[in-house]
Amino acid sequence: MADIAVVPAWLSAPDDVNELLPQLWARTVTRGDDGALRVGGVSVTELAATYGTPLYVVDEADFRSRAVAFRDAFADAFADLCGGADVYYASKAFIATGVARWIAQDGLHLDTASAGELELGLRGGVLPARIALHGNNKSRAEIAAALEAGVGRIVVDSLGEIDLVADLARERGVVAPVFLRITVGVEAHTHQYIATAHEDQKFGLSLVAGQGEAAVAKVLARPELKLLGLHSHIGSQIFDMGGFEVSARRLLGLHRWIEREHGVELPEIDLGGGYGIAYTSEDKPLEPVEIAGRLAEIVARECLVQGIAVPKVSVEPGRAIAGPSTFTLYEVGTTKDVELDGGTRRRYVSVDGGMSDNIRTALYDADYSATIASRASTAPGVLSRVVGKHCESGDVVVRDEYLPDDAGDGDLLAVPATGAYCRSMASNYNQVPRPAVVAVRDGSSKLLVRRETPEDLLALDAG
Ligand code: LLP
Repeated sequence: MADIAVVPAWLSAPDDVNELLPQLWARTVTRGDDGALRVGGVSVTELAATYGTPLYVVDEADFRSRAVAFRDAFADAFADLCGGADVYYASKAFIATGVARWIAQDGLHLDTASAGELELGLRGGVLPARIALHGNNKSRAEIAAALEAGVGRIVVDSLGEIDLVADLARERGVVAPVFLRITVGVEAHTHQYIATAHEDQKFGLSLVAGQGEAAVAKVLARPELKLLGLHSHIGSQIFDMGGFEVSARRLLGLHRWIEREHGVELPEIDLGGGYGIAYTSEDKPLEPVEIAGRLAEIVARECLVQGIAVPKVSVEPGRAIAGPSTFTLYEVGTTKDVELDGGTRRRYVSVDGGMSDNIRTALYDADYSATIASRASTAPGVLSRVVGKHCESGDVVVRDEYLPDDAGDGDLLAVPATGAYCRSMASNYNQVPRPAVVAVRDGSSKLLVRRETPEDLLALDAG
């Protein structure tokens, strides 16, 4: 009975520790005849020998097929309503020039939240007109860079930013295309939403406090700004479409008010991102076709109820495109068994990375899964915790997983679904260089981001 207290309800001992749950792994991942994982036709033992560990391994075909699935699902679902919806890949999940190139080639748009993300998007060949710039505290330099590149939209986040963007546009003799980010009062949680005002946070213009209406008047009074539409992003790792429904209703309500009050019919609306993915066997994500279909129903109904024409819709998924495409490959080092209250044992399996390459477990209490990647095992599964090499006990990568009893020093271990918000939030804690990111496809691999070296870190030190 003691087991029940320490093992999460959703985790059960597997019949076969070598099994790969399809919803957790990038689409081309299989276990080869030698028992080692293969991705894009390449064995992980070969990847580890070539690039070292820890290593983020991106299944290029998986990433791009998800991007294209979102593009097509939104184009189709909204075709009759507003000529198709645009999909902006949220680059904060993970961006490199190589990724931006996929986005450009596959005909998506790009959401950026800094000058750095914008620069990578432009380098990858994304047309400026297809790029959005976000941020609650954009610097003058970032706004200037966006205006000079000619981005398609700047999403204004506060009343103060309106004059800033307008002044910088006037100095350059351009008209800035802007959206207004509205705080719609929907608090989104994983697996649920709470339709109460969530005012106490830093993003956006509060609807209930009247900041949305004030911002509209302020933007319309500045000829250097062209108001394209309203924007809302309610949160991340969301499985329940109810929050999007409330958000769309409130956003379209303001959209309608602008039409009645100011006689201005805004051409667009942006519903943000936030679609959840599977990190463990308990997560059941929706397919892009289902998400797009539900959102199209919601937008069609709300526009009908409010008696307005359907504006052109856009969305901004990040995690749902990048997350499932990637696993992190580590090498196992030390292991130790710990006796828990009630006589159960937990095995601590240490890997050569940790919270510096995946902070999500420590920061959000996120759950992950893991498997031994370099071989198959006939040993029974033991309750294990995958931990890193950093100097704190919160340095946990996978809190609970059954790993084979014979897992140990020199084994490769893979953690799936690390494509979003892992490399992009990586740190150099303990002066540990950040891992490389490699893309694999059709039997060959190429670097997206090279591994940091100790020299890279020493080069920052002023001596
Ligand atoms: N659009 C806006 C305006 C956003 O702020 C975000 C995420 C997205 C789109 C993309 O959301 P997604 O589809 O990826 O859920 N570091 C956290 C997630 C932070 C998300 C921030 N904004 C994590 O690791 O879970």
